[in-house]
Amino acid sequence: MQEIIKKKSLKIEPNLKNYDEMYKKFKWGEVKDEIEWFDTKLNAAYNAVDRHVKKHGNKIALYWEGENKTEKYTFSKLSELSNKFANVLTRLGIKKGDRVFIFLPRIPALYISFLGILKTGAIAGTMFAAFGPQGIKDRLQDSGAKVLITDSELKKRVYEIRNELPKLKHLIIVGETEKEEISYEEEMKKASPEFEIEKTSPKDYAFMLYTSGTTGKPKGVVHVHQSIIQEHITAKWVLDLHEDDIYWCTADPGWVTGVAYGILGPWSNTITSVVFEGRFDAEKWYSILEKYKISVWYTAPTAIRMLMAAGDELPKKYDLSNLRHICSVGEPLNPEAIRWGMKVFNLPIHDNWWQTETGGILIANYPSIPIKLGSMGKPLPGIKAVIVNNQGNELPEGKEGNLAIKSPWPSMMCEIWKNPKKYNSYFKKNWYITGDLAFKDKDDYFWFVGRADDIIKTAGERIGPFEVESALVDHPAIVEAGVIGKPDPMRGEIVKAFVVLKKDYKPSKELEEEIKEFVKKRLAGHAYPREISFVESLPKTRSGKVVRRLLKKLILGEELGDISTLANPECIEKIKQVLQKQ
Ligand code: PRX
Repeated sequence: MQEIIKKKSLKIEPNLKNYDEMYKKFKWGEVKDEIEWFDTKLNAAYNAVDRHVKKHGNKIALYWEGENKTEKYTFSKLSELSNKFANVLTRLGIKKGDRVFIFLPRIPALYISFLGILKTGAIAGTMFAAFGPQGIKDRLQDSGAKVLITDSELKKRVYEIRNELPKLKHLIIVGETEKEEISYEEEMKKASPEFEIEKTSPKDYAFMLYTSGTTGKPKGVVHVHQSIIQEHITAKWVLDLHEDDIYWCTADPGWVTGVAYGILGPWSNTITSVVFEGRFDAEKWYSILEKYKISVWYTAPTAIRMLMAAGDELPKKYDLSNLRHICSVGEPLNPEAIRWGMKVFNLPIHDNWWQTETGGILIANYPSIPIKLGSMGKPLPGIKAVIVNNQGNELPEGKEGNLAIKSPWPSMMCEIWKNPKKYNSYFKKNWYITGDLAFKDKDDYFWFVGRADDIIKTAGERIGPFEVESALVDHPAIVEAGVIGKPDPMRGEIVKAFVVLKKDYKPSKELEEEIKEFVKKRLAGHAYPREISFVESLPKTRSGKVVRRLLKKLILGEELGDISTLANPECIEKIKQVLQKQ
């Protein structure tokens, strides 16, 4: 039985008042004028910030809550500072199409430099501050970035791989500098606040994010300037942002959510945003909701589950009366979390669905439609979502299959950086195949079932098993590794590794900890295996490929099916024994 929340009693200002009617008649051309054009051209950064200066220059765009201090920036100030940064880049010879990467914690310089890069017409690449040297190298090498903006702490990781990055010409450092490094503060002081913003075409490249697939290194997903149209309209319709809202997107811009809904979408709607530099902490989070009188909050299921774990008494200590709309994305939002939201905030949490590749929200629970607990919601007007079989043929309601979207839409990725084969592999018969399995019900609500591949989602972060396996086999004790996502009540999934040790090494708790640290430092703080099983061998096909699917079935205790085609079926019993002992 489907559990439905009708929101008549709640004071949510309805957007998309009549969803069904709007869905039927909507054409993208209708919202073209929501953003500002230079004739047939547009620039996403100009739309996010500069166009508001005349009427709303003194409005606060950013409240920044740092670890030890706070700052605030008006739209005028953001416009001026990002102009300055664009001048800094221009002086360094950066031109349209060049890649400029940002490797910073969530400090104002991250947001300013992102906008400045877009103003020059260069492509902005963002990276989590949690990345280790390997993660940084993969991204900077593949993109051929010319400039990296980082800080005096994080740069240490960059120097470990600096000489493997011949295309990286300049390091701009926030904080103390040495040798040939360029000081962010000094350059910004000198730079002019006037800048002639590049009049980019709608399809000119604006930003890129590296994201994981099942095989190989992370891929560079590139987005165009016109993605702002979709980010603007979804910030309005799904996040329900209105002029007097104070909005908090908890996502880091190393993740596409932090770019599309932490920078472009909300600012394009002239919204005051809050950015918190620190990590998750239940008390701190509630105190931010109270202090800034947050009215709209965009977060993720793991964070909600962590707040649930902190107890129902804690939120009662805070004045959360300004909160009126909560949204969540990135992994399945369990009905339990929505019920909890109703109990604690007297508000339902609105799940929505999208991907790095889609550049913006595509399926959502809108403020104006009832929520079916556990469903991702309904397609955005202008978006046709269907379920198809592996041949690309549409399946009827109730049937599980591949979630597919009719291509294109304004914020659809335009390229997998220098990898047309990978890009083309996403499309079948005009459908963009998402890689997710889902079904739709009779009311056109979509329900997430799982991934069609081995991608791991841990605390909302997307992690490719191959990257973790590669980092693991670089450890001197490890011969081979198989990595999967193991269901976890808090994080959705955790990274679980099965490793085979070289013959001089013995499994031990110490070695396990050492391996975890090794991956954490090398790859990324969030991508290390939280659980490791030492096994004698891994299940392999006759061509030598590790069969991750079987490892997953083993930890889930599911039927394995026919294993006779494996090169080493005898390993299965041994792995079972290891798992039983753990
Ligand atoms: O598997 C789906 C899951 O996250 C994937 C996209 O990951 P990423 O590119 O990191 O996301 C960026 C912006 C959200 C999807 O293929 N996912 C996303 N939203 C949901 C979800 N799974 C279930 N429910 C959701 N609402």
